[in-house]
Amino acid sequence: MVQAYISGTGFHVPPTRVTNDDLRTRYGLETTDEWIVQRTGIRERRFAEPGVTTSDLALPAARDALARAGLKPSDLDMIIFATLSPDHCFPGAGVYLQRKLCLEGTDEPHFVPALDVRNQCTGFLYGLGCATSMVRSGACRHVLLVGAETHSAALDLSSRGRQVASLFGDGAGAVVVSATEEDRGVRGWYLGADGRHADVLAQKIWDISKRPFIPQDADGWGRVAPEMMWAQMDGKVVFKNAVERMLGVVMQACWSQGIGPADIDLWVFHQANLRINQYVAQQLGLPEEKFVHNIERYGNTTAATIPILLAECERDGKLKRGMKVAMVAFGSGFTWGAAIVDW
Ligand code: UT7
Repeated sequence: MVQAYISGTGFHVPPTRVTNDDLRTRYGLETTDEWIVQRTGIRERRFAEPGVTTSDLALPAARDALARAGLKPSDLDMIIFATLSPDHCFPGAGVYLQRKLCLEGTDEPHFVPALDVRNQCTGFLYGLGCATSMVRSGACRHVLLVGAETHSAALDLSSRGRQVASLFGDGAGAVVVSATEEDRGVRGWYLGADGRHADVLAQKIWDISKRPFIPQDADGWGRVAPEMMWAQMDGKVVFKNAVERMLGVVMQACWSQGIGPADIDLWVFHQANLRINQYVAQQLGLPEEKFVHNIERYGNTTAATIPILLAECERDGKLKRGMKVAMVAFGSGFTWGAAIVDW
């Protein structure tokens, strides 16, 4: 039977570092490095410069992953793009990436299909489930899966927005999911959602029940109230549900695979809050050296956290062929997921 494995990883983060102190001194947020580090583990994040879009961040990450897989854009059978901060309302970010990667500046234009995935912080794992199914079914041999975000454009960088604004950063990660006859690759993926909590972490910049969907003034300009413009979150409810759902989906994944947490060689958690992940790791009895993180350097890059971390671990030699890897995520929706991969 055809298996789906990760043949290449890539990442790109914008060069501008924004430390916790920068949030205070550069943007005027009433916050402290101590408050943010104690509660989240975040020390700095990256912000893309104005003019940079999410598909721009995705492009070098995608090229990096393709190069490491030894593939060209024309080898791709599908692009899957996970993001909550697409370049525009529509079309999705996938076609913008496809244009830059497969159509512009090439003698081999390739009209590969491009699918956008929402699902916020769990977007990469939902995308991995789709890519794996496409490959295993025989419909595709190589699927490019990208998670990328430009949060800095949509953060309320004022004291009013500090609870959310201090958490997020920009970045992109990518993997190529390829077909193989070898006995390796994605062993299983486990996804869940609980729409009862859809409003607990949400950015409702428009309301489609209204006519028109954004209130208009007499001159035809749209006017958006701050609570609609910026993401709103009940952090404590997110924290509690994240711990419960992540523990639950890890147990489901291990049980389905007939393994225990001790059989996993590397744990790659979504990077939303180091304290959430440490608590889950402690409950599972995971040894420190199997539990990787980079939230201190990038903050929460939502759909990009897991592929960035995979790419960094591969480059650092922490992620090697033959290892059993667990990926786990939780986010807005609520949505959650896990995947077990034999690397
Ligand atoms: O992928 C999912 C993404 N989201 C998450 O994972 C978030 C999960 N939740 C959390 O990580 C935590 O709830 C936070 C780190 C967001 C907040 O921590 P908390 O201990 O739940 O704080 P809080 O929201 O209850 O706020 C406590 C105080 C408040 O002040 P008062 O009302 O006690 O005077 C906040 O206004 O801390 C204040 N506060 C801040 N102070 C300094 C909130 N944000 C900040 C800030 N700097 N950035």
